[in-house]
Amino acid sequence: MKLLVINGPNLNMLGIREPEIYGAETYDHLCDMVAKHAVNLGVDVECYQSNYEGDLVTKIQDAYFEKIDGIVLNPAAYTHTSVALLDALKAVQIPTVEVHISQVDKREDFRQISYVRQACVTAIWGHGFPGYLEAMDILVNLARTGQRTCAAADSADDAPKEGEA
Ligand code: DQA
Repeated sequence: MKLLVINGPNLNMLGIREPEIYGAETYDHLCDMVAKHAVNLGVDVECYQSNYEGDLVTKIQDAYFEKIDGIVLNPAAYTHTSVALLDALKAVQIPTVEVHISQVDKREDFRQISYVRQACVTAIWGHGFPGYLEAMDILVNLARTGQRTCAAADSADDAPKEGEA
């Protein structure tokens, strides 16, 4: 089983950008956590990041041809703007979990809109870096039970998790 973790713009700046919101740990640390969790789950994983919307679209398209079984997607700011990412997800029909490190539901109004959510099996926000690992668990369970969808989008509980300031 092959999973793909896709991170959008400015997530390469984790550890530097707004640590009070995104925590002090780096993007490399996130990829390390993802890689170790993949070993525990017995799956392959690639961690990809780009600051360019078109590159993210191409990566989602490539996932179709590479027969990726599930995508963990944090589109970052493109969450709130990108019909192109939504269309790419609709095109490839690969089970995808939307993840946000921060509690987007408690932030600015413009962060309450997610264009990609309607093409995702669920969404996790406000769990810090561990949210990515939860998303991987969901995708592995879906694949192992032969499901393509799961229950309605998750909401974060109020308790900050490790990796969140
Ligand atoms: C984010 C939330 C987005 O609103 C923001 O633009 C990001 C990161 C998060 O992980 O909390 O860059 O997706």
